[in-house]
Amino acid sequence: MKEIFKEQLSQLKENPGRAFGLVYPFMLIIGLTIGIYYLSHLDSVARQSIPPKLQDTATTTDLPLIEAKSIPPIDVISINNPTDELVQKGKQLYSANCASCHGEDGTGNGPAAAGLNPAPRDFTDSTNWKNGMKLVNIYQTLEEGINGSGMIAYDFIIPEEKFAIAHYIRTQFIPNPPQNSNDDLAALDLTYNLSQGKEVPAQIPVAAAINLIVSENQSTVQKAEQIVNAIDNDKSSEGAGIFNRVTKNPLQAVALLSSYSGWKDKESEFIKALTSNVRVNGFNREVFLLSEDDWTVLHNYLRKFF
Ligand code: HEC
Repeated sequence: MKEIFKEQLSQLKENPGRAFGLVYPFMLIIGLTIGIYYLSHLDSVARQSIPPKLQDTATTTDLPLIEAKSIPPIDVISINNPTDELVQKGKQLYSANCASCHGEDGTGNGPAAAGLNPAPRDFTDSTNWKNGMKLVNIYQTLEEGINGSGMIAYDFIIPEEKFAIAHYIRTQFIPNPPQNSNDDLAALDLTYNLSQGKEVPAQIPVAAAINLIVSENQSTVQKAEQIVNAIDNDKSSEGAGIFNRVTKNPLQAVALLSSYSGWKDKESEFIKALTSNVRVNGFNREVFLLSEDDWTVLHNYLRKFF
């Protein structure tokens, strides 16, 4: 044993490259261990350690509540003139709607301006306007807002008021504001249909509409339940007896009868309603066995409830 070891050692001294041969089996064992570990843990190795980000689609925005209103037509040529009346009106509207960001002095330092990026426009600085300083440009900014900024579209301010605010900003804050050409005004008129005026129909949020429909139907269902209960409690009456015999689902049957009133005054309509789509309409096959007298009794009996 000792001999062999000595021999190997001396051979190694002569030829150090042989060391690789000795190391080789170890490499093999290490490789195999890693391989086996990998295979036995394939499940967790393959699994992504970073969970995928799913966009939350559960939150949706609903339609805004809009009051019906009629927007008076506007003559763009005359509204281009900043009368005192318009400017005064603009001043009030500006204080109420714009000063929180743009500041009472128009320099963009209002209390709500902090942290806004981009910052609200300083109207006294005439560089880098996105839409521009002309009356038509400011009108467009108010109609459409500025994408990707705190400057929203002011839908609820009617056109005449938008012009009033724009005049106020121009006369009060902007040094030497550029004038509109008649072409500018004509183009603005075309874009926003200003000379035609507009009737804005009322709109309610979808969620509110659904609530309305549900509550309306709830009262129908409640009424139907009351009728079914009343018939159920009316043990002695012949009409109630016939009704109970010919119905498969009394609530459905009553719902059918409350859905339209054409059957009330015409027995033939009544018979038609009950004998078409039997089973789906809440009645059963017994209706085909009713005598003429039975029909009349049932008809007269049910009429009282609707
Ligand atoms: C919530 C804050 C906020 C309010 C309120 C606000 N704005 Fe702005 N406004 C901004 C910001 C922010 C900008 C800059 C947008 C940009 O540069 O992208 C801006 C830009 C503008 C501009 C410059 C558009 C251009 O061409 O660069 C005008 C004009 C303007 N606003 C008018 C108004 C008027 C009029 C009102 C009131 C009806 C108003 N803003 C209310 C935040 C506001």
